[in-house]
Amino acid sequence: MIVALNNKSNFTRDEYVEYLKEIEEITFKGKLILCPTYLNLTVKTDVILGAQDVSPYEDGSHTGEISARQLSALGIKYSIVGHSERRLSETEEELFNEIRRLLENNMTPILCVGERKADREKGSTKAVIGNQLASVTNYLMENERSNVIIAYEPVWAIGTGEIPTNEQIKEVIDFIKSKLPNNKVLYGGSANEENIDTLKEIEGIDGYLVGGLSLKPDKLQIFLDKLSE
Ligand code: 13P
Repeated sequence: MIVALNNKSNFTRDEYVEYLKEIEEITFKGKLILCPTYLNLTVKTDVILGAQDVSPYEDGSHTGEISARQLSALGIKYSIVGHSERRLSETEEELFNEIRRLLENNMTPILCVGERKADREKGSTKAVIGNQLASVTNYLMENERSNVIIAYEPVWAIGTGEIPTNEQIKEVIDFIKSKLPNNKVLYGGSANEENIDTLKEIEGIDGYLVGGLSLKPDKLQIFLDKLSE
C-alpha cells in the first residue's frame, strides 16, 4: 500500500522542520511518500521524498524550472505530475515531457487524473480520464508504462469534503486498470481518518494521495492505522 502526502504550498522552512519530526515518528508498514514544496525538499530526512511537479525540460536556460536531474541528484524518487491545481497552465505535451524526464532519471511519476463535476454530470468521466491517460497509454513504450503510478483525483472531491461513492471510485479504478493493467492506482480527494474505513472496502486501490490530511500527522497516523487493520 502506498500513501503519498501532498503538502501543496504549505509550511515555511521552520514550520516544515517541526512537522518533519512528527512525520519521521509515524509508523506504517506500507510506503509513505512525502511531497513537500521544493524549498523543503532539501531538508535531510530518511522519509521517502517526492516532488509536487517537475520541469518538462532538461537542464538549461529555463528560468524558474527545477529539472528531473536536479531532483534525482537529491535522492528524490517520485514526482507528482498533472495535478489538477496545475493542469490549468500545463499542456498535454508538457505533461508528457515531464513524465519522460522523470523516467529518464529513474524517477517514478505519479500522474493525476480526474473529472470535473460538470464532466461527471454529462456522463463523460471515462472519456475525460481516457484523454488524460493518453500520454501514458499512447506515447510510452510498453516497458516504461508500468513505472507510472496513476492517482485518480476527482477534481470536485479535492479539499471539499465531498467524496464519490465506493461504486463510483471502483468504476474509475477498474477503467484505469483496463487500460493499464500493470500500473498502481491511488485514490485522492478528501480522504481522511474518518472515511478511510469506507474507502478501504474498495477492491483494487493500491493506495492514497492525501492533501489536507498530510498536514496533520496525528490524524494521518490514525488513517494509516485504520488502513492497515
Ligand atoms: P485533499 O486530500 O485535501 O482533498 O487533497 C487531495 C489532493 O489534491 C492530493 O493531491
